[in-house]
Amino acid sequence: MPWEAPEDFPKRYGWNTPVTAPGPDGGQMLRGIRRIQHDPLSYLHQVWHDSGDVVQFPIPRPATYLVSSPAGAREILVNHNKAMGKRTVQYTTLSLVTGTGLLTSDTHAWRPRRRMLQPAFHHEMVALTRGHVVNALERLNAHWANLTQDGPALIDVDQAMMELALEITGATLFGVDLADDAAVITEATLAALHGVIQRARNPLPMPMSIPTRNNLGMRRAIRQLDRSISAIVNARQAQPHDPNSPIRDMLDVLLDPDVDVPLTPQQVRDEVATFIVAGHETVASGLTWAWHLLSRDSSEQELLAADTQRANMVFDEALRLYPPAWVITRRVLEDIEIDGFVIPAESMVIVSPWLVHRHASVWNDAEQFIPDRFAGGVPQMGYLPFGAGPRQCIGRDMARLEASMILADLSSRWKFEPVVSGEVSIDASVTLRPAHGLPLRVSRR
Ligand code: HEM
Repeated sequence: MPWEAPEDFPKRYGWNTPVTAPGPDGGQMLRGIRRIQHDPLSYLHQVWHDSGDVVQFPIPRPATYLVSSPAGAREILVNHNKAMGKRTVQYTTLSLVTGTGLLTSDTHAWRPRRRMLQPAFHHEMVALTRGHVVNALERLNAHWANLTQDGPALIDVDQAMMELALEITGATLFGVDLADDAAVITEATLAALHGVIQRARNPLPMPMSIPTRNNLGMRRAIRQLDRSISAIVNARQAQPHDPNSPIRDMLDVLLDPDVDVPLTPQQVRDEVATFIVAGHETVASGLTWAWHLLSRDSSEQELLAADTQRANMVFDEALRLYPPAWVITRRVLEDIEIDGFVIPAESMVIVSPWLVHRHASVWNDAEQFIPDRFAGGVPQMGYLPFGAGPRQCIGRDMARLEASMILADLSSRWKFEPVVSGEVSIDASVTLRPAHGLPLRVSRR
């Protein structure tokens, strides 16, 4: 029997929206608004703690649910994937920056595009990433050697990881050297995404044509991104790769004129923007939190320096505690039942890896940093930093390879120590980032 609202519970929210799961009432939600805007992670945690694994918010349209059980998350992303679309605030707002690329496109447009782009992520291509990571690390190590000539240096490791990850994304997917441009693109991406978040958290609709400060900042950032993307695409069109080469990068696939329906310039732009946005900030965020955790756990840091094979486990554990994609949203296309609760068609569902990764049914001492918990591999349920099901991350293998190489190399050369004690506050934006960067004291080993 599906759940029914008890006597003392409203049976309907506004616009006749049926109540099919417990959750905060309107007053509690209103009182939580500041927290939703400034500390959404703790708000989600509170709601989960108070109301359980399936929560309905008192929001009339669309009816909005939070699903946090490992089995429920799997039902949404894997078993019911055909009943899920991407027409959600999260993705429609993100598409202001990325257009309708692979990440934001809805089911019908998505399938052929995924089939088209998947070959760019074959094994040889992922293996090619190795060379690019080695080059980028060489540059970073030389830079840090300079900075530490006279002893330990204070380095914003968050900024360094952003630039490193962008350089690797540029070289691997688009065959271009973004090293000199990295700061500009990183800044434009962050500014555009900042605008996205401000919009998503603003209850009032604010068309892009209205010159608010946020809209103007976003428009400027998107123009900068567009300029950088045009430069990348134009350079390849001026000097195409040999079509007989066995290795084709992402740009070769996007610009291929010999497919049934070649992509339009706008579609190419949208995919390049998607891969810049999806491919570098996520990896950088995961790495930044890994360094944060290691800097505060000197024995784990020493274990890693002595045995760099541990890098994968360290990264998996960092992604568990700080999943860069901390919410995944779906629009439900037909009525479904999750853990005994009916979720009607047209509802919005939020799955938060931040919560699922702390579920006591799968994780002991969930708040502790214990890389060894991944010694036996990644569990089938309760772990979804890369999502799950057909729409799971296309760049997962590339990201894990890149990150483990970076953790292994840097930890064997450098020692990282915190410069501030106490909690580091988290900016839960498009990804999770430390609110004030991650300054660490870096010294040579
Ligand atoms: C640690 C790094 C990464 C994390 C945590 C991450 C996380 C995710 C998650 C959770 C999704 C699924 C979103 C959903 O179901 O709505 C996703 C999708 C996606 N990711 Fe990643 N990602 C990472 C790295 C990358 C990289 C390196 C690339 C590209 C090179 C990339 C490109 C994409 C794309 C294009 C999609 C959309 C796939 C589709 O819908 O078919 N990601 N990612």
